[in-house]
Amino acid sequence: MKKSPLEILDVYRERVNSRLEYYLASICSDGSYQSELKGVMSYSVLAGGKRFRPILTYTVADMYGVDISKVDSSACAIELIHIYSLIHDDLPAMDDDDMRHNQPSCHKKFGEAQAILAGDGLQVLAFEVISSDELISHSIRVDLLKLLAVSAYNMADGQSIDLSVVSKEVDIALLNQIHQKKTASLINCAVKFGALLNPNISSKDLDILDSYSNHIGLAYQVQDDVLDITSTEEVLGKRQNSDLNKAKPTYPTLLGVDESIKVYKNLYKEALEVITSLSIKNHPLRELTEKLMGRSF
Ligand code: IPE
Ligand code: IPE
Ligand code: MG
Ligand code: MG
Ligand code: MG
Repeated sequence: MKKSPLEILDVYRERVNSRLEYYLASICSDGSYQSELKGVMSYSVLAGGKRFRPILTYTVADMYGVDISKVDSSACAIELIHIYSLIHDDLPAMDDDDMRHNQPSCHKKFGEAQAILAGDGLQVLAFEVISSDELISHSIRVDLLKLLAVSAYNMADGQSIDLSVVSKEVDIALLNQIHQKKTASLINCAVKFGALLNPNISSKDLDILDSYSNHIGLAYQVQDDVLDITSTEEVLGKRQNSDLNKAKPTYPTLLGVDESIKVYKNLYKEALEVITSLSIKNHPLRELTEKLMGRSF
């Protein structure tokens, strides 16, 4: 029986979970003496998470007829970078958050040094899984790696600006730039990975997907800032009011919760409008975007 668009998302989630386990298991399996690092990395990778970035990669790749076996390394790589970013984001030197995915954040469980190293390990593992994927041509691998490098740098740059404005007044224009860098960069990469896996992707569709992903990327962070206030700890899996307690400038602190909800809903709607011009018409990106708009964690 044919699966509905939302059932397909569950298939992708299970797929990325099992591939992530596979890649973790394959690290340094040469019998040499091992530290606890692999276990620390696994703790954060297997803790859960919505897996929304790899789901985007699988969805877009499928739209362009890419065989799913060629998508696994890209889907896992973007999630590995995301997980590393969250481990470092929770450190005392950054957001100082003690809970993630309803369990102690990585540094709370293993200490700061191991958490920093787990982030380092996950970051390089992301590059390794793509560079060693024999199912993908060399030239596509290089394109994917270049995009991943630039996107991961932009994420770190966004995090740096984010921390530099704590307790300061910022305007919406600067906040948009921070959100664009720290959050939309990886979402943009996740979407474009799916498209770049097809060597015949048109530049017009790539431009449309670029715009689509920047819209949902910004929306995603505005929504995260709203959920920080409106959702409970149990549902979020992380502390409520973390931004307020750390004096982080956010959309809700600048515009209020109601106005911020309007902003992110409009961004998602604009994203839906943008993808109507794609050369592919029947695809689950619409349902996926609508599901994101209604998320509660
Ligand atoms: C949290 O991202 C950090 C942001 C960039 C908003 P997610 O909400 O996608 O985190 P998980 O992986 O599902 O926990
Ligand atoms: C994090 O933004 C963005 C990253 C690049 C990790 P937040 O600091 O708002 O993410 P949460 O709320 O801790 O998940
Ligand atoms: Mg942060
Ligand atoms: Mg944080
Ligand atoms: Mg947040």
